[in-house]
Amino acid sequence: MKTVTTEMFGIDAPVFAFSHCRDVVVATSKAGGMGVLGAAWMTPEHLEQELKWIDDHIDGLPYGVDMVFSSTATKVDFKESPREIIPAESREFINRLLDEDGVPPLPKDEEKGWYAEYARNLAFSPEASEALLDVALRHPVKLVVSALGVAPAHIIDRVHEQGIKFGALVGSPRQAQKQIEAGIDIIVAQGAEAGGHTGQISSLVLWPEIIDAVAPTPVLAAGGIGRGRQMAAALALGAEGVWCGTIWLGTTESELTPDMREVLYEAKAEDAVITLGYTGKPCRAIRSKYTEAWLRPDAPATLKNTPMQSIVSGEPFRRVERARRKDWMTYSAGQIVGRVNEPTTVKSVMYDMILEYSEAMERLTQINEA
Ligand SMILES: Cc1cc2nc3c(=O)[nH]c(=O)nc-3n(C[C@H](O)[C@H](O)[C@H](O)COP(=O)(O)O)c2cc1C
Repeated sequence: MKTVTTEMFGIDAPVFAFSHCRDVVVATSKAGGMGVLGAAWMTPEHLEQELKWIDDHIDGLPYGVDMVFSSTATKVDFKESPREIIPAESREFINRLLDEDGVPPLPKDEEKGWYAEYARNLAFSPEASEALLDVALRHPVKLVVSALGVAPAHIIDRVHEQGIKFGALVGSPRQAQKQIEAGIDIIVAQGAEAGGHTGQISSLVLWPEIIDAVAPTPVLAAGGIGRGRQMAAALALGAEGVWCGTIWLGTTESELTPDMREVLYEAKAEDAVITLGYTGKPCRAIRSKYTEAWLRPDAPATLKNTPMQSIVSGEPFRRVERARRKDWMTYSAGQIVGRVNEPTTVKSVMYDMILEYSEAMERLTQINEA
């Protein structure tokens, strides 16, 4: 296949895989697409480890890194216990519900150290982002992507100086325009059906609007893509490639625990709901007792200041994982989760996608020739 993005990165198929898991990144690039590692939740040391592993396994193929360049994140002071930084009301509310439902608390000796480590992963301050970028720029990354908002000019310049492309996720034409003004090379237009933080405009409406608004900048279509017919639709609408997240979660390479994997395979499209309980920002994730809890009339307001609600969700997620309580488990996932029903591999997802894409193209050709 030949599109602006396959030419830009020298890849065989314009399929970009967003994943927090290094194995998915490597497997996608090896299958002819391009893996992009989600680094937002990592410390610089952790990112260094992951990128070193990727470099050792990817056979020189291209890959990217995605991170948050937020100027609004609240700085977490690691000297204080992060447990005390979040309002007691939020912490007590969710932990009380877990207590009442028989989910054991974290062992006391584990709690403190774990909290400190967890909060360190959530440092989204400009300094913390730049420390992650320093690590990324020491590796042969070909693409840096901003997950949320416009990155500062000096960050974009640093990336460009090394000949690396800069991409950004957007959920509206207005956000896309701001990124273009900042000098971004690739726009990822993410429709509302996507997993993770998401906007309100559905993919089919959003993609062509953004493609027209930012031309000739290439656009990757994201949100709800998991099969070839969806890919054909995205390319027909003018996208130069597709960017997928949820579909990789079901692969044997993904980061999910066996319990979370089962929850994922059982979830239907309508189970991928918007919740504020995860991070404080609208996030599409699998419905569970956790997401439902924050909709109760007695629930405290979720915390908008990044990363406060994420600190709140950390302890319950850990409790639930330890207790293997699937009814409380949630994970970011988009509506395409309804298609993720059994274990597969990155390679076969890619293969099926390209095969179905070809069939869709053939069908259109036949319609045209009739
Ligand atoms: C588990 C999960 C975590 C995500 N985390 C991030 C993130 O840290 N940064 C980011 O830019 N996008 C993140 N996303 C969104 C993806 O980059 C992508 O745009 C989205 O998954 C595309 O829609 P889909 O889920 O329908 O494939 C995440 C998505 C999922 C499913």
